[in-house]
Amino acid sequence: MTQYVINGGTPLHGTINISGAKNAALAILPATLLVDGVCRIENIPKVTDVTLMLEILRDVGASVGLEDGGHTVLIDSGGVRSGSVASYEHARRMRASYYLIGAFLGRFAGAQVAMPGGCNLGVRPIDQHIKGFETLGAEVQVKAGFVHADARDGHLKGAPVYLDVQSVGATVNIILAAVMADGLTVIENAAREPHVVDLANFLNSSGADIKGAGTDIIKIRGRKRLTGGTYAIIPDQIEAGTYMAAVAAAGGEVTVGNIIPKHLECITAKLTELGVEVEELDDALVVRRNGALRKANVKTLPYPGFPTDMQPQISACLSCAGGISMVTESVADNRYRYVDELKRMGARIQVDGKVAVIEGIRRLTGAPVQACDLRAGAALIVAALGAQGKTEVGGVYHIERGYEDIVGKLKGAGADVWAEEISDQELLTAGQTG
Ligand code: EPZ
Repeated sequence: MTQYVINGGTPLHGTINISGAKNAALAILPATLLVDGVCRIENIPKVTDVTLMLEILRDVGASVGLEDGGHTVLIDSGGVRSGSVASYEHARRMRASYYLIGAFLGRFAGAQVAMPGGCNLGVRPIDQHIKGFETLGAEVQVKAGFVHADARDGHLKGAPVYLDVQSVGATVNIILAAVMADGLTVIENAAREPHVVDLANFLNSSGADIKGAGTDIIKIRGRKRLTGGTYAIIPDQIEAGTYMAAVAAAGGEVTVGNIIPKHLECITAKLTELGVEVEELDDALVVRRNGALRKANVKTLPYPGFPTDMQPQISACLSCAGGISMVTESVADNRYRYVDELKRMGARIQVDGKVAVIEGIRRLTGAPVQACDLRAGAALIVAALGAQGKTEVGGVYHIERGYEDIVGKLKGAGADVWAEEISDQELLTAGQTG
């Protein structure tokens, strides 16, 4: 079992280059199932969720090749058949496997996909996805752990869909189902995240007709055929925000490179409120923190609001800011499971439902802690970088789902961090479970 070990207290200095956006890749890779011919997708992040998605595409008959050290993927879905089914074991290990429902409905007017898994953030229903598929003319049933969706008269028909929740996943899935349906689909109250726009840009580069992505009204005119080409994924704004939070916690000055500053506007504004200096360059941000962090209140919202995927990381920063801060998680159902681990490091946080009240202390102290999901693990690393002493982070497989080479990137910025193998006996002694 691997753990990360961090000796905290060293200010960070240097450059950290950001990888492609995990959540854009997890939407665009299944979208290649809709395209005739080879799709060359560049700037793919080397994270385990993407590796698993590529396995799932192979399961259903796509041919998948890697270039550029795994950062470029070549996909030809010519070998995919309508009755193809991804392995239950693979599909249930992450949330984004449910994009195969939209992709198979879009291409074959029928789909059979295992119910999704993914980070345990409380209840994560898919009722809005099902509402969209049914509105486009599919019959949807869940049985024996699988979602079965079939177009009533053999093809989907465009229609207006109003989302009760600004759901990223439902917006993506409905776009995938609608992009080759007959006629016009209008998604109202659509999610506006950068990775929704990236998916629309990829599909339009293949011949689709999608307008309005990035606003809350997206119009999709069905097309008969999409053709392959080359497309580069956008940089990951959550990975970038995580390293900005690392500088906030540890201090120092780091250039966060290969980003689109506009995608980080809300994160930049909030860190500036905490007392972090952020200088904007064309495709990079220079992040500095010298003085003490200041308290702030945070409320997570759908994009362009403060992202829920940065809530654990900013809470780790607020744990050593002067004063009382309040964090409200208004997107996910239960995203405070990391708080107990931060408390092992001395954090003073009270959680009541959607609200966490954080009493900042001067410095956290290192401790053995356990990641319980992707962004919770990132938050523990952020906390450890600013803490006094050594922190051992277990459960790093969660972190490796969404962060490419996080140890190497932090080392490159001067952090005293390394990965080490520990035996099961040492795990038991440390009180950590798998
Ligand atoms: C995507 O999850 C991301 N995952 C999540 O990132 C991210 O936290 C989330 O969007 C919000 O930005 C991927 O893109 C693979 P939602 P998704 O549908 O699509 C409720 C990470 O750390 N809802 O926008 O599942 C839902 O319960 C991961 O990279 C319904 O009620 O998020 C949640 O409370 C974690 N019914 C809210 O909407 C539905 O049918 C937002 O969910 C769908 C969602």
